Amino acid sequence: MKVCVVGGAGYIGSETVYELIRNGHEVVVIDNLSTGKKEMVHKSAKFYLGDITKEEDLKHIFEQECMIKHFDVVMHFAAKLIVPESVEKPLEYYHNNVEGLRILLSVMNDFNIKNIVFSSTAAVYGEPNKDICEESDLTKPINPYGETKLVCENMIKWVCQRYDMHYCIFRYFNVAGADETLEIGLDKSNLTHIVPITVETALGLREKMTVFGNDYNTKDGTCIRDYIHVQDLAYAHVLGAQYIFENEENLLLNLGSNNGYTVLEIIKEVEKYYKVNYEIGKRRAGDPAKIVASNKKACEKLGWKPKRTLSDIIKSDLDYRMKLNKK
Ligand SMILES: NC(=O)c1ccc[n+]([C@@H]2O[C@H](COP(=O)([O-])OP(=O)(O)OC[C@H]3O[C@@H](n4cnc5c(N)ncnc54)[C@H](O)[C@@H]3O)[C@@H](O)[C@H]2O)c1
Repeated sequence: MKVCVVGGAGYIGSETVYELIRNGHEVVVIDNLSTGKKEMVHKSAKFYLGDITKEEDLKHIFEQECMIKHFDVVMHFAAKLIVPESVEKPLEYYHNNVEGLRILLSVMNDFNIKNIVFSSTAAVYGEPNKDICEESDLTKPINPYGETKLVCENMIKWVCQRYDMHYCIFRYFNVAGADETLEIGLDKSNLTHIVPITVETALGLREKMTVFGNDYNTKDGTCIRDYIHVQDLAYAHVLGAQYIFENEENLLLNLGSNNGYTVLEIIKEVEKYYKVNYEIGKRRAGDPAKIVASNKKACEKLGWKPKRTLSDIIKSDLDYRMKLNKK
């Protein structure tokens, strides 16, 4: 397949580019480098600097690329994704995430590109009152970030129905870890994810970390979340793209591990290597006790299964961060 990866210089997009190339596909990346880095883009992929909120950028790139060979699939990772920032700047989130997608879909339609793979999130479920989230569960986002992703999901469904296009929407849970080559991983200054924060604390890059609440109704009182290795997640995208391309069918799938771990279990796993300096703080508003994905549908539809365990996730993030900080 010839695949256009929008947001392919970011954490998950760049990993998916690596997996696409490992599986023999041709890749073109479009990214505005607002949070991504050009050096994260695999050398075999073609890179264009472009912004999805600017129709002229996309038209120019699609004109150049589709003259040679049509894109079989567009994978769309480009978004703003920091929850507190979305509460602070909702209009920026609607502009980038929703308006950006509208323009992308419109240009795809102009160039007769029929397949889109879209990154959605567990945040569309809001505060689930079930232990295991299934795709058919109620969607009730509790912040602008989650809301923009739900609006995007619905826009994709309506547009695909009208213009005879196909979609694969993935709802991710907690994504962590680095590529097996350690060439790429989550390299950001303002990390918000628990795994890299714990690893950075263990490596002495942070003085201390806070565990938000130890009075939840879970085995050790801390919140339970579902963790998935970025390389397993990226490989699911390759399979999802192939599936909709070959079967002309739509998919809406959770990508998680079917397993939950508490915050203290994450810390314990990291402490197999180095001590973690942490304190117990108060609960944060809107943090449910447990969110775990049912990945049954993704496994059945795609013949996919996450291969990597929590230990693999922690070890790969640790190795990656040690390599980053040696430079
Ligand atoms: N990281 C997670 O745990 C997680 C969880 C659930 C969903 N997601 C979704 O996965 C996707 C990728 O997330 P990530 O963690 O790789 O984030 P990221 O910030 O590393 O990657 C996003 C990429 O998109 C680019 N981008 C943003 N706006 C753009 C625009 N207007 N035009 C062109 N490029 C633009 C950025 O420069 C960056 O390279 C996002 O859509 C996010 O909502 C991520």
